[in-house]
Amino acid sequence: MDSRTAPDDAPATETSTLSLETLAIHADDHLNKNTDVAPAMHVSTTFRYSNDPEELRPIADEELEITDSTPPVYSRLSAPNTTRLESLLSRLTSSYALTYSSGLSAFHALLVYYNPRVIAISGGYHGCHGVISLVSKLSGLKVVDLFDEEAWDAAGLGEGDIVHVETPLNPTGEARDLVTFKERAKRRKALLTVDATFGPPGLQDPFKQGADVVMHSGTKYIGGHSDMLCGVLCTRDREVWQGLWTERLFLGSVMGSFEGWLGVRSLRTLEMRVRTQSRNAERLVEWLDGAMKKEGSVVKDMVVELKHASLQAKGEDGVWLKKQMPNGYGPVFAMTMKDRETARRLPSKLHLFHHATSLGGVESLIEWRRMSDQTVDDRLMRVSVGAENWEDLKEDLENAFEALKAEGR
Ligand SMILES: Cc1ncc(COP(=O)(O)O)c(C=O)c1O
Repeated sequence: MDSRTAPDDAPATETSTLSLETLAIHADDHLNKNTDVAPAMHVSTTFRYSNDPEELRPIADEELEITDSTPPVYSRLSAPNTTRLESLLSRLTSSYALTYSSGLSAFHALLVYYNPRVIAISGGYHGCHGVISLVSKLSGLKVVDLFDEEAWDAAGLGEGDIVHVETPLNPTGEARDLVTFKERAKRRKALLTVDATFGPPGLQDPFKQGADVVMHSGTKYIGGHSDMLCGVLCTRDREVWQGLWTERLFLGSVMGSFEGWLGVRSLRTLEMRVRTQSRNAERLVEWLDGAMKKEGSVVKDMVVELKHASLQAKGEDGVWLKKQMPNGYGPVFAMTMKDRETARRLPSKLHLFHHATSLGGVESLIEWRRMSDQTVDDRLMRVSVGAENWEDLKEDLENAFEALKAEGR
């Protein structure tokens, strides 16, 4: 993993060249006010003001200049466990990070803050399109295809508007070239916002390709244990962060303190989890890809198409992709099965993969994607690879394909 340096005016602590793994365990040490090694859990929603009348200075909430050492007042403004999570995230991303109650509330906050007239977006997580519909109802926001520059210009996409790129992409795990979209956005003075949920810190740093804001559904890899909802927005502009903070105060979409505590616990192992999960996915994809080309293999009988950024990296896309994702191509891939019924039955034959939606946890999941997204091919399986031994996962898949074959599929 490359070492990271916080920006000069970093919010949390001083700059350093410590690696991601070390920062994940120590970047919040300055907030450890007790003798506890594990962070304390604070459940209070309200916090006593100073007992010294001289220190009591009335100030409107929205005028507060917030840092991670600002004393908490009320937990819709800030709270110790979420502040600690934000401080860690800021260091891990060399940016100013703010957390939200979910990935979608983070995306909503982003659109409320910038209030664009036009947004260029295509595919990716369907829920983000739902948020855009809500915002369009209020502001008349226009949506244009991410790949259709003529449509951008016809809609007048320009200063203050947004080019939103999800990479890698839900549900296939394929990547998009951020440098190209940055150039197109910059030419029109528009912003590049990146949903980096599928490629968390350690796998990619979209700021290097010019992202203005990086968003995560922290529910996935930042949480990593399928037990917390979280959204994150990261910016390198302190003023934007302060504006987002003030608006979150009124949106009210803060994380709960327990989730903030879980998030800190989870980040300690982010790098090793994501590295293992990504490597496992690449090995499974390599095995499946090879087996699909072998006459007589059960994989060839069952799977008709395989998608993952690691496959893209073998072709022309490898030129930009190896720079964009130098440490691995992400733990999610997609398989298209031979028919709808094979896809519907596959999860029931697996023992190690849970049949469930979501992704990012240490437990491997598989989803017949039609269960939660009506827009996808009804033969598509989304696979979120966990931290188990990859050969056990391979055997589980192979046995499941054999079981389907024995049923005459
Ligand atoms: C790429 C992506 N962005 C955003 C979200 C929304 O996140 P949340 O479920 O935390 O609201 C998801 C959820 O699956 C996602 O996959």
